[in-house]
Amino acid sequence: MERTLSIIKPDGVGRGLIGEVVKRLEESGFKIIAMKMIHLTQARAEGFYAVHKERPFFNSLTSFMTSGPVVVMALEGENVIEKYRTLMGATNFKDAAEGTIRKAFATDIEKNVVHGSDSPETAAFEIGYFFNSFEIIG
Ligand code: CMP
Repeated sequence: MERTLSIIKPDGVGRGLIGEVVKRLEESGFKIIAMKMIHLTQARAEGFYAVHKERPFFNSLTSFMTSGPVVVMALEGENVIEKYRTLMGATNFKDAAEGTIRKAFATDIEKNVVHGSDSPETAAFEIGYFFNSFEIIG
């Protein structure tokens, strides 16, 4: 069993896409084991994306991620990291496959509606960043 972190980003929440994303997750058989809505501070967004600190898009990304509330979820299942990344589609929506969340709703490489962990190590860090063990229904 594997776990991954999903975020519905401020563009997704602001455009009323929480239900749409959750519907796609549930219809695809993903098990949601934790969920909350939060408004990230600048420091918390910078800590979450620390791995991208040297990237040219870091400041823009962290200010976007603090521009409105986000919904964070932990998902569990076999091979869930890769399966959820497939459901999301490519980071750049221009490369995203038909039927994916980003193909349907992303408007920009940054405003790409959802985030998903990219490895088991990242997932452990990212889930722990938002949830304590009492908040995970596992
Ligand atoms: P995410 O999966 O949350 O991981 C890092 C985020 O940085 C990415 O989705 C995009 O929202 C954002 N981003 C902005 N510009 C770029 C870029 N050129 N390459 C990759 N990610 C980018």
